[in-house]
Amino acid sequence: MILPIVQYGHKVLRQETSEVGADYQDLKQLITNMWETMYKAEGCGLAAPQIGLSLRIFVVDANELSESYPETAGFTKTFINPEIIERSEEMIPFKEGCLSLPGISEQVMRHKRIRIKYLDENLQPHDDIIEGVCAVCVQHEYDHIEGKLFVDHIGPLKRRILKNKLTNISKGKAGAHYRITIP
Ligand code: NI
Repeated sequence: MILPIVQYGHKVLRQETSEVGADYQDLKQLITNMWETMYKAEGCGLAAPQIGLSLRIFVVDANELSESYPETAGFTKTFINPEIIERSEEMIPFKEGCLSLPGISEQVMRHKRIRIKYLDENLQPHDDIIEGVCAVCVQHEYDHIEGKLFVDHIGPLKRRILKNKLTNISKGKAGAHYRITIP
């Protein structure tokens, strides 16, 4: 089922999230809905708060970036109850966008390499080292479950320049080509 995507300004994007319990009902359905919603909107990642759920789960499919960034080929993963346990000192820049902030794209600095523990869609545990643009995508989605957005990482001056755009997004006037939920 394709769900509407929560837009900037909605409080669910800033709320604390809960771990997905082992007894969570309809987990498979939730994951399917997240993939369908992400692909319909042509995103490369989606986190539960973006469909209105304060849960620690996100999906990433970075494949479409593989022409420019070969390391993303085949990177399609579900992250349940993830925890980033190591972050490299080295940072890399990347121009990011977000389905909750249509029409905005800004360069953000992210850790080049992370180590992350998580459960996959079959609740199997993983402890992975992820690098490059894959790590960028994962950190962007991880931010969502921590109540953060990529625009939190840009400087105050640039942010002031974006103010009108952000206001328009929160009013649903940013021209998103998918269904949205506004604050
Ligand atoms: Ni996002």
